[in-house]
Amino acid sequence: MKILVTGGLGYIGSHTVVELLNNNYDVVVVDNLYNASLDVKDSIKKITGKDFTYYNIDCTNEKDMEEIFKKENIDAVIHFAGYKAVGESVEKPIMYYRNNLDSTLTLLELMKKYNVKKFIFSSSATVYGTPEKLPLTEDCKTGDATNPYGETKIMIERILTDVYKSDNSMSIILLRYFNPIGSHKSYLLGENPNGIPNNLMPYIVRVADGELDHLSIYGDDYDTPDGTGVRDYIHVVDLAKGHIKALEKADKGPGLNIYNLGTGHGYSVLDIVKTFEKVNNVKVPYEIVGRRAGDIAACYADPSKAGKELGWKAEYTLDDMCLDSYQYILHKNK
Ligand code: UFG
Repeated sequence: MKILVTGGLGYIGSHTVVELLNNNYDVVVVDNLYNASLDVKDSIKKITGKDFTYYNIDCTNEKDMEEIFKKENIDAVIHFAGYKAVGESVEKPIMYYRNNLDSTLTLLELMKKYNVKKFIFSSSATVYGTPEKLPLTEDCKTGDATNPYGETKIMIERILTDVYKSDNSMSIILLRYFNPIGSHKSYLLGENPNGIPNNLMPYIVRVADGELDHLSIYGDDYDTPDGTGVRDYIHVVDLAKGHIKALEKADKGPGLNIYNLGTGHGYSVLDIVKTFEKVNNVKVPYEIVGRRAGDIAACYADPSKAGKELGWKAEYTLDDMCLDSYQYILHKNK
């Protein structure tokens, strides 16, 4: 089975390509290197001992994308490519709506034309906005994201729902990711954002290795056990494996299915800092500052639907996640 993976050299995409190759899928990656580097291609080959086809193409470019659909016999699409920085999306909403919606619509048009029926979409827990209950189940209310990035995820989920209504022979799976951290155990792949990180784990990693002075913890007055924000952190390799299970499900027959990919456990910012310090034997100096605009107190998944229907469950512990996030950067900086 040949899988087209858009954004396949990015953080979650690259880990998923490794799992696909390990499971003997043929892989075609499209990535314009906007937020990824070409070294990742070699790292994937080194880890798996397998080769795959790579195109440096922008998924919004219909002409170039059509060449791929013409040439490769694509059976399924996993769509990771997209802009993903929450703060930037507030400053540049047009760029976010244009890019994230265009790439998805282009893929859907070409899939229709070339009769490709299986589509797996990288959605996010952000679609739940302020959670109506915890843990979050897939039938919880969605909408009201606090930023344009989140809105693009909500809009694309709606588009895909309508596409399925119009063509019941499609197999569409929406995967709602919680907070991926960690890296592949080879430490050849991981998360290494450009500039000053926005997300918690990449920021902690840079404080630990001395690049940044200290972590600012955004608020300790939330209604959570220690007052700091609670999230469902999931190891990126567990998340990647969820895509293999989703593909197997999509291959069984048509449908539109939604799954939370999280561990089901909520950890606070202070839990993360303490665990990170313990497993890596480093200090992470921090200061408590005011709340960050748009943040919610707590967000964690009920992942039991993915357990029942996909046979998937996150296996790595928080210790693994904190260890692997730091080891990747130490290896990279060697
Ligand atoms: N935090 C800090 N200091 C920092 C960074 C983060 O205290 O420097 C806190 C936040 O306030 C929050 C927690 O750490 O309580 C996690 O923050 P992240 O920025 O790592 O993650 P978010 O949960 O805010 O957002 C992430 C992704 C979004 C995605 C969302 C889905 O960045 O793309 O999860 O739930 F939509």
